[in-house]
Amino acid sequence: MMGIDEKVRKTLAELGVNDAQGVESLFAELRKTAERERAELISRGAPNQPQRERFCKALRDRWLARKGGFLSQVDENWLKPAGKDLKPAVGRQFNELRRFTASLEFEKLVEALPLGSVAARPAPRDLTLPGLRRPLGSIHPVTRMQREIEDIFLSLGFWIESGPEIESTYYNFDALNIPESHPSRDDWDTLYIDSNTVLRTHTSPVQIRAMEKYGAPLYIIIPGKCYRHDNPDSTHSPMFHQIEGLAIDEDITFADLKGTLDFFAKKLFGEKVRTRFQPSFFPFTEPSGEVAVSCFVCDGQGCRVCKESGWIELMGCGMVHPQVLRNGGIDPDKYSGWAFGLGVDRFAMVKYDIHDIQLFFQGDVRFLEQF
Ligand code: PHE
Repeated sequence: MMGIDEKVRKTLAELGVNDAQGVESLFAELRKTAERERAELISRGAPNQPQRERFCKALRDRWLARKGGFLSQVDENWLKPAGKDLKPAVGRQFNELRRFTASLEFEKLVEALPLGSVAARPAPRDLTLPGLRRPLGSIHPVTRMQREIEDIFLSLGFWIESGPEIESTYYNFDALNIPESHPSRDDWDTLYIDSNTVLRTHTSPVQIRAMEKYGAPLYIIIPGKCYRHDNPDSTHSPMFHQIEGLAIDEDITFADLKGTLDFFAKKLFGEKVRTRFQPSFFPFTEPSGEVAVSCFVCDGQGCRVCKESGWIELMGCGMVHPQVLRNGGIDPDKYSGWAFGLGVDRFAMVKYDIHDIQLFFQGDVRFLEQF
């Protein structure tokens, strides 16, 4: 059977109504429907005040809305196009309907609607409806990058070590050969908790802790948060992430370092990338180097990602300084080793083409859900 919603959209001719009696029963049906819907709403009630107001407004609009309400549709589709012979009957009925719906006092329904009754009555369950799904999160891009890097080194037999973020100046500086006068120990670069305690400025202190704990041979990577006295901008954050690598064994040479990092770069950025080692300086490695990889986007031609240089700086590295091995309780005459330190956030920015490091730490779901 055709519902009221459908009937008011048709003309009387389309409905096959062509005499006064047909008109009368059609309007009677409308009045009955209005009365029934009002009664149903009252018996259903509303769980709370906002819902109560919403339900009442919905019913009122359904009938009386100036645009699209049933009464205006009746006016538009039944009354206006009605032929000469039917028009008086339709007009009379229409006035009657107006009076009737006014008497139902939809505006005053809010007070008539019992509160809390919807919640109180158990609704019949439709077990065929889809269940409620909680929105799934995704892995944070920095975590994702970290895991990707970890996986490569785990596959080479390294294991994962960690250490404290609140660190002594001994492990963060002294044991790593960083003298009291070194600029990185300055208040302006390091966040001090007290004169002997800092928020670690790199993951390198865990080198010493691991040497003390395990001795040699040692093959570890150390992911973790680091802190520096930097103002936040698109490439700096006072908190950032590093991964440290450390290999100590008999007969470890610079060739092992080059081979391992070249393998790593190819695994992470693709087989066709080349690595470049340039001399550098760190107090805890000798010799020290900076590693760059040929741009994996333009293959070294120069593009936006490599800032037209063809190369992307990856990390600092070097052969562990004999004094650092000694500080860790390892005999430098028997063992040698290499180490590297890389910025995970920077890796993620390069790999995912992100131009502002702050995006990682703002928790904006619109950014995070892209990963
Ligand atoms: N710790 C150095 C830094 O934070 C990186 C590094 C680690 C360099 C290990 C050489 C060897 O910049």
